[in-house]
Amino acid sequence: MRKIRIYNTAEELNISFTGWLTDILAEKELATIALSGGSTPRLLFDYWARLPEGAIDWTKVKFFWGDERCVPHTDVESNYGMTKEHLFNFIHLADKNIFPVQGDNDPEAEAKRYGELLNRELESKNGIPVFDIMMLGMGDDGHTASIFPHEMKLWYSDENCVAATHPVSGQKRISLTGKVINASSNIAFLITGENKAQKVKEIIEQSENAEDKYPAALVQPDSGNLFWFLDNKAAARLTKGE
Ligand code: 6PG
Repeated sequence: MRKIRIYNTAEELNISFTGWLTDILAEKELATIALSGGSTPRLLFDYWARLPEGAIDWTKVKFFWGDERCVPHTDVESNYGMTKEHLFNFIHLADKNIFPVQGDNDPEAEAKRYGELLNRELESKNGIPVFDIMMLGMGDDGHTASIFPHEMKLWYSDENCVAATHPVSGQKRISLTGKVINASSNIAFLITGENKAQKVKEIIEQSENAEDKYPAALVQPDSGNLFWFLDNKAAARLTKGE
């Protein structure tokens, strides 16, 4: 299966990613997914919200987050709040299958709590919780989840989750660490926009120092199942034939 997929529009990307997701769901009784935040997933959630009832069997999904801003769920910055507003309000879901990060908790305490929750709720391999599906975005600076370039050491933490800090706003975040991200059975990057094109190129073409500079370059799942869903703007600088 092609690992790098390029689309002309976000709609085409969303349709293809949804097919990739439902193929995985078809193989499982119950699947665990870690959602990402940002504008790219927001368009995907709007697409899912408009699908006919039953197009995706959400009863087979347990929802978690790969990262969350340390704000109340009602805050416009909340990834959970965005997911609720753009998706959960439109589909039938059991609350027992939704595991939000508590953004209004003390960050260090919440990182510990969520990390322990993952150990309880997910299957594990070598003592590491394993997500069936890990959705990731990439920031303009090459961050992924909420591991930012100025805090690369957090990627290598022995913990499941860490408290991170946005480099510009100083906003505290909760993020999964590289240990958990790379243990995932399937990882999908959803990346759109020309402002991502240079880093997409450097990471996919494994340019020198990419792994020293960009957390997104460190996403290398043990399973090998890393898929890139890109629009043509984000893919514009890839050497043809990728
Ligand atoms: C977040 C995300 C973050 C996001 C990237 C890309 O909480 O902001 O998890 O890692 O995926 O910043 O965001 P866009 O999709 O908006 O480009």
